[in-house]
Parts: sequence; C-alpha cells; structure tokens
Amino acid sequence: MIFSVGALALLALQSVHAAPSLQKASSRGVKASEHTLALKPVSVKPGSSRELLSRVAKAKNTTHSASLNVVDEGGAYAIEANLGGKNFDVIFDTGSSDLWVFKSGVKCVTGTGHPAAASQCGFGPEFKGNFQGGSIKNETFYIAYADGEQLIGTLGYEDVTIAGVKVKKQEMALVDEAYWEGDGTASGIVGFASKYLTNAFPGTMPSNNTQPLHYNNFITNAVNSKAIDPVFGVVLERNNGSSSVTLGGVPAAFANAKYATTKLQKIEISPHLIEKTQYTYYTITPDGVVLNGESKSTSFAGIVDTGTTLLYLPEAMAEAVNAAFDPPSQYIKAAGVYENDCNAKPPTFGITIGGTTFNLTSEDLLPTGAEAKDPMTGGCVVGVQPSGSTYAILGDRFLVNTVAVFDIGAEEMKFAAHSY
Ligand SMILES: *[C@@H]1O[C@H](CO)[C@@H](O)[C@H](O)[C@H]1NC(C)=O
Ligand SMILES: *[C@@H]1O[C@H](CO)[C@@H](O)[C@H](O)[C@H]1NC(C)=O
Ligand SMILES: *[C@@H]1O[C@H](CO)[C@@H](O)[C@H](O)[C@H]1NC(C)=O
Ligand SMILES: *[C@@H]1O[C@H](CO)[C@@H](O)[C@H](O)[C@H]1NC(C)=O
Ligand SMILES: *[C@@H]1O[C@H](CO)[C@@H](O)[C@H](O)[C@H]1NC(C)=O
Repeated sequence: MIFSVGALALLALQSVHAAPSLQKASSRGVKASEHTLALKPVSVKPGSSRELLSRVAKAKNTTHSASLNVVDEGGAYAIEANLGGKNFDVIFDTGSSDLWVFKSGVKCVTGTGHPAAASQCGFGPEFKGNFQGGSIKNETFYIAYADGEQLIGTLGYEDVTIAGVKVKKQEMALVDEAYWEGDGTASGIVGFASKYLTNAFPGTMPSNNTQPLHYNNFITNAVNSKAIDPVFGVVLERNNGSSSVTLGGVPAAFANAKYATTKLQKIEISPHLIEKTQYTYYTITPDGVVLNGESKSTSFAGIVDTGTTLLYLPEAMAEAVNAAFDPPSQYIKAAGVYENDCNAKPPTFGITIGGTTFNLTSEDLLPTGAEAKDPMTGGCVVGVQPSGSTYAILGDRFLVNTVAVFDIGAEEMKFAAHSY
C-alpha cells in the first residue's frame, strides 16, 4: 500500500496495495482461523548478523521472530500484534508507519464517503471498546493509501507486543470509518517505515490533514527503548509458507547468506511534510536492471514495500519488461494494468542492487493463480506494472526472491538471494 496522501500527491501512484483486478477477483473465502498462526518468539544467536550491527555500540545478541500469514488472497502478509492484552492480525507494511485496527462498530463507506454494507469492506476482528486511557483529545487519525483505501479514527496509547518485543504506551489508532477492501482476516495495519510518515493531525476534522504531528511509531520506540538493535529482517514466501519478520537482527536461517548492501536514500516526499535529512520510506537506488540478459544501468529510486503486492517500475521500464513477454503484455485500460495470456512466456528480469542482480521467477513476472486472473478478460495480471512516477515500488513479487534486511542503525538495506 501504502503511501500516505502526501506521498500520493508527489508520486501520483494509481493503485498500489493490490492490482485492482486482483481485488475484484478476490473470493473473500479466507477465514481468520485458518491463518492465525501462533506467535512464536524465538531467541537465536546472531551468527554473522553481528557484522550488521558493528555500528551499534552495545549490540544485543538476541533477535525476536514471528511468522507472517498470507492474507488478501496472497496480496499481503499479516503479523500478530498484541494490543492491550488482545491479539490481532495486522498487515505488515514497510511502506507506511502507523499502527491501527478497526474499532468495534466501525462504519464501512465507499470511496466517496457514502455508507456501505460492512460486507463490502471485509473487516477482520475489531478492537472492543476504547483505549484504556481514553482517546487523545483533539487529535485525529487520517490516512489514505495509494490504492484509494482511506481510514479515519482516533489516537491513544496501548501496550503493544509484536514478535515478543513490547513497547509500553505505544501511540496507535482505532478506526471508526473506513473505505477498505479486506478479506475478513486483517484487523488493521502495522507500519514499519519511519516516524516521519505517521498520520496524527491536530484538531478533530479529518479533512484538516496537511500538518501531521509526527509521533514515534512502534519500530522507532522499540529501537529507542533499546528493546532491540536497530535492524529487522523480512523473509517472504509466495504462499502460506514460513514467511517471517525478525526484529533486532537478520533472520537466523539467513545469518550466513551473502548480502548486497546499499544506502537508504533520503527523499523529499512533500516540502512541508518531510525534512530531506531523514529517511521516510525505505528508499534505495538500484544499480540498474537486467532484461533478457541485457544490463541497463538506469537510475531510479525504489521503495521497499511489503505492503504492495506487485512490482511497480517507472513507466518506460515497465513498458519494456511487458513488451519482452512472448506474446507482449497488453495494457488493459478498464483494469488499469498490464495483462497477458496466462500461458505467455515471461522474459528473464532482475534488479541489480549493490552489485548483485536479484532475479524474479517466471511465477512472479506472470502470476497464474486464481487471484491473478481478471474475470473480465480471462487474462492474468502481470507482476510488473508502471508506477505512474519516477519511483519504483519494490513490492512482494520482488521481495519473495530476496531476504531483506532493514538496517536502520547503519541507514542501509541489505538483500540476499532467497532461493527455494
Ligand atoms: C549473549 O548474551 C548473553 C548475556 O546477555 C551472554 O551470556 C552470552 O555469552 C552472549 N552470547 C554471545 C554469543 O555473545
Ligand atoms: C493458506 O492455507 C490455508 C490452509 O491450508 C488455505 O485454506 C488457504 O487457501 C491458503 N491461502 C493461501 C493464500 O495460500
Ligand atoms: C487544522 O490544523 C492546523 C495545523 O495544521 C491547526 O492550527 C488548526 O487549529 C486545525 N483546525 C482545526 C479546525 O482543527
Ligand atoms: C484543538 O486543537 C486546535 C489545533 O491544535 C486548537 O486550535 C484548538 O484550540 C483545540 N481545541 C481544544 C478544545 O482543545
Ligand atoms: C540472476 O540471473 C543471472 C543470469 O542468469 C545470474 O548470473 C545471477 O547469478 C542471478 N542472480 C542471483 C542472485 O542468483
């Protein structure tokens, strides 16, 4: 997903969370109970992860891991969060920064704010009652994601535990009104990007949303309170597998993997929102791309975003990749996406980061599962789409081919190849 409205304006992204036809094709048949894996905090020795932490004066030697469950028909990954004593599955999103869940009685609205049946929103289990200490007075939560989803609510404090890491009195939001396209599993989202993308606004009017009051989000507080070292690792599997998030280090199974490293870039999202001196999204500059064996060293910024289903590339690059399919993909205006025959032959394609080319498999370039089929055309939605801006969004179709380490302390991203 997962751009707040300021970024949306700058990046002019059309649809990021999941491609529209993927959402239309959702069967919404997934039940929460089937996806609720037990939270299994484990402590592991870091092995070579310690080199990642060399800049940390007093590196701890424990990490905390939790499983991610596939939700939204494979379009997103959820993690269990304990909020004031109750567990909720929330979408794990490195492309936004707020933690929020639906409040009991949340209203479902259409994209234009008109009342809609709750079944249209597909809310997961709701948070009962209010914050233990009541809502923060005169402060409003408002967020609009790049796919159009919008949430309005109040803010307050709860003790939050994720992957066994507890932050006391964490500021978070309860949502009262939502334009949402869920499948009944996720109760909300937890954003792991920087505090400079949080969405608390002064006053009580959700429309008054130009000057956010940046608050410390979960990952910021977990790091600042020294509960974890300033690093986390993400392993995404294509299906219900062993996807995980590791807080405080690299995932144990990939401790000895060969990582390619690149600096986090500080991009200006919107003049009054963000100082260019801070990182906001996890933005990197790849060295280039390799299409059908041919290297192209083009410079573009890419945002590493677990909350986005597909890989979005700058227009010309997305067009070149889609033209290299056999037969070439077609841009379907009605759906706003490139589609192809589900039996088409994808090119070979990879993104080079820190000197290593991370290849997408055919399955990622042309997903052919039921969720990728466009019922209107019978075609399959291609895994590589145009971002509508000069930025790329390195979403799940890219990330499943890597192990991604978000080294906040060193202000670096590290990737290792994730082969199966
Ligand atoms: C990890 O830390 C514990 C105590 O905090 C210490 O006893 C142990 O020796 C450390 N292990 C390594 C491998 O550094
Ligand atoms: C995940 O696994 C459950 C139980 O095996 C299955 O019902 C569900 O369809 C799977 N979901 C996805 C997206 O693979
Ligand atoms: C709207 O936000 C501004 C700060 O950006 C604040 O000064 C003003 O009081 C707010 N207005 C209302 C009606 O909440
Ligand atoms: C609410 O906040 C706004 C903006 O910060 C302020 O102007 C207004 O006086 C506040 N109202 C109350 C009732 O505190
Ligand atoms: C990506 O594919 C190229 C060409 O087959 C290969 O040379 C390279 O090693 C692959 N990258 C990884 C990380 O396996």
